[in-house]
Amino acid sequence: MHKENMNGSLSARIAVFISGGGSNLQALIDASRSGLLHGEIVLVISNLRKAYGLERARKGDIDTFVFKKKKYESLEAADADLLARLKQHKVEYIALAGYLKLLPDNVVKAFHGKITNIHPALLPKYGGKGMFGHHVHEAVLASGDKESGVSIHLVDEIYDSGRILHQVKVPVLPDDTPDSLAARVLEQEHKWYARILDKLIRGEYENQHD
Ligand code: GAR
Repeated sequence: MHKENMNGSLSARIAVFISGGGSNLQALIDASRSGLLHGEIVLVISNLRKAYGLERARKGDIDTFVFKKKKYESLEAADADLLARLKQHKVEYIALAGYLKLLPDNVVKAFHGKITNIHPALLPKYGGKGMFGHHVHEAVLASGDKESGVSIHLVDEIYDSGRILHQVKVPVLPDDTPDSLAARVLEQEHKWYARILDKLIRGEYENQHD
């Protein structure tokens, strides 16, 4: 369970990793500011300089960092720098929000049980490498499944395989396109990510096993 701060209220320090538009990041920022999420987003990290989510972070006065492994002499140096930046910002929890890279092992180990990801389908279906964004929705539509949804899960070293904390189902409609299905799923993502992250911070998932 996260400790109370000096004012007696919970406030965890959160880093959010993104690769794209950052609508989930925005929902987390809004939830943090409204008090729904008992945490402060102190750092936003993107692997892409042009990700619009970085702009959202800047507008929210949140520090940003573009993490590109190619800039470093070695993979080890890259991973060590990433971890050092998280520590500099005294980050306690990490939320992946449309981050399309695998987190380095050193970060996964250092934040064991404190990293969440949101995935736009009902895992374990439609997960794994290459399964992101519209690829997921295209696969769901091609399968003929009658429902899809959102999975919020803990992160381990393998794509989309950590303990599932929460799932929400949405219907797949006969005239759906990948865009219309994505919009229905995204609406639920925005509603649920902050709530589940808040429950994790409050220790509500401790001592529970699958
Ligand atoms: C979201 O739908 C998220 O679930 C998905 O990328 C989108 C990011 O949107 N993540 C994955 O597919 C991870 N495998 P956003 O940048 O607007 O939050």
